Amino acid sequence: MRRKLAADGPPWVRAADDFATVTLPECDCDAVRNLLIAERPAAVIEIGLAYGSSALAIGEALISVGGNRHVIIDPFQDSEFRDSGWEAIRSAQLDGIAVLLRERSQIALPRLAAEGMSVDAAFVDGSHLFHNVFVDLFYLQTIVRPGGLVILDDHWWPGVATAARYYETNLGWRPHGPLNGTPGRLHALRLPDAPVTPNFKELTPFWPGAT
Ligand SMILES: C[S@@+](CC[C@H](N)C(=O)[O-])C[C@H]1O[C@@H](n2cnc3c(N)ncnc32)[C@H](O)[C@@H]1O
Repeated sequence: MRRKLAADGPPWVRAADDFATVTLPECDCDAVRNLLIAERPAAVIEIGLAYGSSALAIGEALISVGGNRHVIIDPFQDSEFRDSGWEAIRSAQLDGIAVLLRERSQIALPRLAAEGMSVDAAFVDGSHLFHNVFVDLFYLQTIVRPGGLVILDDHWWPGVATAARYYETNLGWRPHGPLNGTPGRLHALRLPDAPVTPNFKELTPFWPGAT
C-alpha cells in the first residue's frame, strides 16, 4: 500500500503538486519505519496524517514488531484531505490498531496526558509553528515513556528546530542518529531516563543565533 501510494499518489489531491509537497517522501518513510522497528514499540503517537504516507510506515513498523496501538491526531483530515490518509490506513487494514483523533494536537495531547496515556515513540509532523511544536513537545514529554523516542519531520524549518532545541539544551533530550533519508529533514530525540528539572534561574540559550 505504501509503495503504491508513493508511485501512484492518492485518489484525490488538493492541487497538482500537493502530494509531493505535503507527504513524507518514501525514503524518509523507510527511515522512520527502520528506526521504529529497531525500537520495537508497542504504541506510537503521530501528529499530522495528511495523505497517510508516514502513517503507513509507522503502521508497517508496529505490525512488524507486534505493536498494537497507533494514535493519530489531525483536525483537518476531513476538511483538507477528504479523509484520504485515513482511507489509506483502512485499505491497508491498519485501522484495527489505529485510531484517528480529529482535533488539534495542542488540544488533544493535554487530555491524553491527563488520562495517563503512555507510548514508546512519537512522530511529529503537524503544525510547524514554533509555539505549536513547543506545546506538542511539552505534552509529549509526559506521554512518551522515559527513554522513548520523538521523531520530528521538517527539522529544517526554524520553528521546528528551535522548539526542539529547547528540549535538547535544557531538558536533556539527546539527538539520536544520524537518520537515513533526506539530509536535514528528520530529527530524532531520545527522552532522558528520568525527567530533568532545570533551575528556573538559568536558561541555556536555544534560539537561533544563540551561542
Ligand atoms: C505536512 S502534513 C503531514 C504529512 C503526513 N505525515 C504524510 O506523510 O502525508 C501536516 C499535517 O498536520 C496537520 N495539522 C496542522 N495543524 C495541526 C494541529 N494543530 N494539530 C494536528 N495536526 C495538524 C495538517 O492537517 C496536515 O495533515
